[in-house]
Amino acid sequence: MVNFHILTLFPEMVMQGLNTSILGRAAARGDISIEAVNIRDYTENKHGRVDDYTYGGGAGMLMQAQPVYDAYRAVVDRISQNGDGNKKTRVIYVTPQGKPFRQEMAQELSKEEELIFLCGHYEGIDERVLEEIVTDEISIGDYVLTGGELPAMVMVDAIARLVPGVLHNDESAETESFGNGLLEYPQYSRPEIWHDKQVPQVLLSGDHAKVDAWRLEQALMRTKERRPDLYEKYMDTHR
Ligand code: ADE
Repeated sequence: MVNFHILTLFPEMVMQGLNTSILGRAAARGDISIEAVNIRDYTENKHGRVDDYTYGGGAGMLMQAQPVYDAYRAVVDRISQNGDGNKKTRVIYVTPQGKPFRQEMAQELSKEEELIFLCGHYEGIDERVLEEIVTDEISIGDYVLTGGELPAMVMVDAIARLVPGVLHNDESAETESFGNGLLEYPQYSRPEIWHDKQVPQVLLSGDHAKVDAWRLEQALMRTKERRPDLYEKYMDTHR
């Protein structure tokens, strides 16, 4: 069970994306919970503003410390009231300046009970509040998006599917790409011939040992060709 709390200026966007399909059903069952907290609800500015110009000049606006901090405090206070007051909840700021997100990080984060995600907008967030509340800065890749919502949704999805009970088939989280350090082997369904292409014979043989061997070989070939970096790493640990 992981409770996800997402601090954002666009709560509808986050909830629409995450309350659907597998994660929506997992939340309905209570295997995870997802809430989006609107940072704007916490601003003390009477016009509802949450951003201002940057000191030192330069283009763009910055999210101010006060509303971000108060939204964070509200979530933390609620978590403490629900019992788990002693443990420091991890607060993840999604930013292109963060550490690259990886499957191992998803694995590690799926063992937490509470996770707070902070989504930035405009040119970012006042550094002083980041210093006070953020425990991890994570990037989903070397490209820049308009805000932190999509990266937060990507991370929540990757983490949530590793939480016990979320995926029905326990195996599928383990045998897929990256679960074993390799890319996944190709898969086929009916019909046996489609556009003159035949399903590989070995998969029709009923010989499970042979099928497993073929799949491993395919996974190795694919990984070597497409991701030589992963292939080297795998070979280093499987010699
Ligand atoms: N915000 C904007 N771009 C991002 C990225 N690539 N990763 C995480 N957060 C971001």
